[in-house]
Amino acid sequence: MDLLNLRKFETLSPFEIKDELIKLAKKTSKTTQSAFLNAGRGNPNWIATTPRQGFFLLGQFAVTESQRVMEHPAGIGGMPQAQGIAGRLEAWLAKHADMPGASFLSSAVPFAVKTFGFERDAFVHELVDSIIGDNYPVPDRMLVHNERIVHEYLMWAMCGDPRPAGKFDLYAVEGGTAAMCYIFKSLKANRLLKPGDTIALGTPIFTPYIEMTHLEDYALNVVNIHAPQENRFQFTDAELKKLEHPQIKAFFLVNPGNPTGVALSKETIGKIANIVKRRPDLMLLTDDVYGTFVPEFRSLLGELPQNTIGVYSYSKYFGCTGWRLGVIAVHEDNIFDKMIAKLPDTELKALDKRYGALTLEPRKVKFIDRIVADSRDVALNHTAGLSLPQQVMMTLFSLSEMMDGARRYQQACMEIVHRRALAMIEGLGLQVTPNPLFDAYYGLIDFEFWARKNIGEDAVEYLKKNVHPLDLAFRLAEDHGIVLLNGGGFDAPDWSLRVSLANLADDVYDDIGRGVRSVARGYRHAFEASRGAKKE
Ligand SMILES: Cc1ncc(COP(=O)(O)O)c(C=O)c1O
Repeated sequence: MDLLNLRKFETLSPFEIKDELIKLAKKTSKTTQSAFLNAGRGNPNWIATTPRQGFFLLGQFAVTESQRVMEHPAGIGGMPQAQGIAGRLEAWLAKHADMPGASFLSSAVPFAVKTFGFERDAFVHELVDSIIGDNYPVPDRMLVHNERIVHEYLMWAMCGDPRPAGKFDLYAVEGGTAAMCYIFKSLKANRLLKPGDTIALGTPIFTPYIEMTHLEDYALNVVNIHAPQENRFQFTDAELKKLEHPQIKAFFLVNPGNPTGVALSKETIGKIANIVKRRPDLMLLTDDVYGTFVPEFRSLLGELPQNTIGVYSYSKYFGCTGWRLGVIAVHEDNIFDKMIAKLPDTELKALDKRYGALTLEPRKVKFIDRIVADSRDVALNHTAGLSLPQQVMMTLFSLSEMMDGARRYQQACMEIVHRRALAMIEGLGLQVTPNPLFDAYYGLIDFEFWARKNIGEDAVEYLKKNVHPLDLAFRLAEDHGIVLLNGGGFDAPDWSLRVSLANLADDVYDDIGRGVRSVARGYRHAFEASRGAKKE
């Protein structure tokens, strides 16, 4: 594609450019030997089967419970009743012991009852009534048993060692996507971030964070805190120092990174903790969607619980992007509530009005409950909350992990993505020092860095002067049927590409590596031809 055409794409998000790349790549795969390889999307190509088997079997039992209460020939049932329901589930599972999911459910219920001290009937009734979905979500923020289970799962999966003291309040939401939207909205509504305020973004970063901050709705000024490849994708001291400036109200980051795939090191977390000692008012938002792909992962939620809003999504690890399962976590003792309480009187009065229909004491509404209310424009707070069957799936995903003492599922997921990363690295002809903080969910190919070694400094200089960086992604699609996202859209280097190691079969990743090499060879030839032309 020529320069002028490529320039048109400069303002688009990589996720939109991707659609154009897909069109080109599909066309190529129809007319050449190249297969269509779309490694642009972070949708995993595996799923967690055991908790799903439990879910679908539980649904069968739930309908019998409904019919126990009422069975009208026109196909109408009643609302499941709590009394004795745990015993009935146990007996029903014994009768259907050969069904997929029976052994999981038979162990999951006693496991949860024992681990959390639940009352059996109350817990099983929450599961059964919710999978039937015959009530509005109550409490709107999250079901009580589900919240306890997910809390423990987040402690296990996100918080690392040592566990933070106290507890987080959780809000079950429609994936990380909804979490982001709701948090942005409530920070603004509660005057914690106003248009014109400055926030810091840990870059490179998942593009929507860059785009949302610039929306007219939020109109935030942004300072980038950069984590360069030369520093193994950790924030440098000089970059972190910017956070000491009191003008920066909040620091938003994705950990482990998207597109870098690298988690914050213990040292980096320690440096951020030191800054927070000097800046106790610094609000942190950490999006830890990929945390479960890094051994002994520690989120800022674990280290700095009072300052941090946590975003977690089940989408990637459990292969459930279509389920839309996510959580927002805010510690019960947090700076957000305190900062709201200290707002000027006029602003507090405006907030009294905003939340006044919910309670007689609106100033006592916690920040997390404000997020719930704002998610439904306050007026529809009474019908807020994540759908109940979704919350049951969340319970079962979380329990399946906690019951897996040997972490076999986690190990297997990590093996899948690392195998693919290795194949791609081989295809690229690279030698890479292993990094235990690398989640291998995405790989960021720093093409410029790679090309300097492989096609020469002079060819790279030529490239940077004469070729648009987007040409790389377009050429891969057009010549090789390969779709990768342009790193520039994530505030990664312009000449970089994000590869999703999650969504294609293992055996194609070396082809992707070879495709990138072949494009590089093409650039080298173009450079040599230009030199020849000059001499003539
Ligand atoms: C960093 C990050 N946050 C949030 C999301 C959205 O996740 P979900 O599928 O749960 O909406 C993604 C998905 O790619 C992501 O990479």
